[in-house]
Amino acid sequence: MILKKEILDIFKNEMCHQFATVSQDGIPNICNVGAKYIRDDGKIVVIDNFMNKTLANIKENPEVAMLIRREKESYQIKGSAIYLTKGKEFDEAYKWMKNIGEKYPAKGAIIITVHSVYNSVAGSNAGNKVQ
Ligand SMILES: Cc1cc2nc3c(=O)[nH]c(=O)nc-3n(C[C@H](O)[C@H](O)[C@H](O)COP(=O)(O)O)c2cc1C
Repeated sequence: MILKKEILDIFKNEMCHQFATVSQDGIPNICNVGAKYIRDDGKIVVIDNFMNKTLANIKENPEVAMLIRREKESYQIKGSAIYLTKGKEFDEAYKWMKNIGEKYPAKGAIIITVHSVYNSVAGSNAGNKVQ
């Protein structure tokens, strides 16, 4: 899925998003993600620099969600994730991260296939599916 322009704009230009995962037992976790980009094929890439519970959860359960927001505009992005530490897709993500800062470990790349997007605003559109 290719995200709509207004959603892409927030994804790309806001510095940090909130990334939610769930363990096999249903225990939720949420963390900040600033090392993120979106590929031409619409997949979201998040770099694992410091992940702990997030990584454990993805290995147990691929279902993830991301909350993105600018001022009073906000969207929930839902999808499924895979975790890569080698191969072409990982190499691209590793280079992207190291290009920003050599200090970042870039241990792995989380590749998210987006399945749906919901509006997360206050008001009459709250919770509506937008994609
Ligand atoms: C502004 C900000 C941005 C962050 N971006 C990332 C990131 O892109 N990748 C990462 O691995 N950790 C990032 N972190 C650290 C994670 O939020 C979190 O500390 C880490 O995933 C460990 O927590 P966990 O056990 O919930 O996975 C960031 C933290 C902050 C405060």
